[in-house]
Amino acid sequence: MSQHPIDIPGAALGGIAPLPPGVGQSEAQLPSVRPERAPYLVVSNVSKMFKDFTALKNVSLDVREGEFVCFLGPSGCGKTTLLRAIAGLDIQSSGTIHQGGRDISALPPEERDFGIVFQSYALFPNLTVRQNIAFGLENRGMKRADVTARVDELLALIDLAAHGHKYPSQISGGQQQRVALARALAPSPGLILLDEPLSALDAKVRIHLRQELKQLQAQLGVTTVMVTHDQDEALSIADRIVVMNMGVVEQVGTPQEIYDVPASQFVADFIGAMNFMEGTVVNGSDARVGDVTFALRRDGLANGAAVVLAIRPEDVLVADADPQSALLHPNRIAAEVENLEFLGSYLRMYLRHPAFPAKPLVAQTTQTLARALQIVPGKRLDVILPPERLRVFDRLVAHGPASGATSTVAKGGTVHD
Ligand SMILES: Nc1ncnc2c1ncn2[C@@H]1O[C@H](COP(=O)(O)OP(=O)(O)OP(=O)(O)O)[C@@H](O)[C@H]1O
Ligand SMILES: [Mg+2]
Repeated sequence: MSQHPIDIPGAALGGIAPLPPGVGQSEAQLPSVRPERAPYLVVSNVSKMFKDFTALKNVSLDVREGEFVCFLGPSGCGKTTLLRAIAGLDIQSSGTIHQGGRDISALPPEERDFGIVFQSYALFPNLTVRQNIAFGLENRGMKRADVTARVDELLALIDLAAHGHKYPSQISGGQQQRVALARALAPSPGLILLDEPLSALDAKVRIHLRQELKQLQAQLGVTTVMVTHDQDEALSIADRIVVMNMGVVEQVGTPQEIYDVPASQFVADFIGAMNFMEGTVVNGSDARVGDVTFALRRDGLANGAAVVLAIRPEDVLVADADPQSALLHPNRIAAEVENLEFLGSYLRMYLRHPAFPAKPLVAQTTQTLARALQIVPGKRLDVILPPERLRVFDRLVAHGPASGATSTVAKGGTVHD
């Protein structure tokens, strides 16, 4: 990947575009952020081969106008490859990409309309902050007075008005990354592409800057695609997340959808904490895990089918927290607190039960409740696994024993809602 700043295209679309909405324009001109926004970027059946290795397999997705979309997935899953295909830096082997209704599938980067920011700031070290931001504008032949005005505007936008005269080595990493963003935004591209732009920064700066980035994006209404492998970053910043694994899209959804209704075991495992239990369907709508039968309340399950049940720690209820309503729930088991982990205002409990011989069941509760119930290691505790919070996936039998709790199961499986 080039370590040089990418010259932001736009000239091919008529030179310098007007200022983005929100920069010196009235609020009435701000783009709509309603959910029915039209698709702006459409990726259809994109595959990418590197010799005989398939890095992307039939990837299809839409990014709506003004939307902030994150590509999220483990290292090597194809996030950067997809971003580079969208930018034209590495053309896909097959499939099409449309931006703003235009087929850009075969266009070189300079004929596309995007600004890009990489993980490494890639600022010109011999140019000042001002000159770095102005670089793409001057290259397009913008008048000097207009360049000055635009750079002033962007410096104010990224809150670095007093630092324009400095060189990159004289400002912090977080500030450098803001300058890189300003440079990408300068010609008002239709699309901003960000490849792990925050990952080189320390944790505190990263969290601060991601909120700034989100605010700036919302203010400008610029369609944005950001690559990250940090799920917290994606969950906190994205309108929608594209979860990728081994070159395929596993799920596209809002952070809430991805977290609450993972479409596959991979997503369930990759996002947040999750307990997994291997079981077998009995009675048409229950599952046997060890000696315990859990009600699933799902249709369409075949008796004898191998399934994986999944439940988040915060969805495991402590029966004594509300003894009256606990009586209404099925799936109540008597466990023993093996260990406790403090997470600030929350407490994570590791629970032992004969149905889970391999790994304790993890439950989460508030410190307040833990104090009230005097939860300590060794305590017997009734917990409930509500059927509506149990996710059910088909189990590939090759994955292991048919009963007992296991650690995560890697991949695959139909979801039974
Ligand atoms: N130019 C290349 N030649 C051969 N293989 C490549 C090339 N670029 C990427 N790959 C392979 O394609 C796969 C996807 O790479 P990619 O850089 O898209 O991953 P990523 O999801 O961005 O990972 P990371 O989070 O580590 O940046 C990897 O297995 C990688 O080794
Ligand atoms: Mg990458």
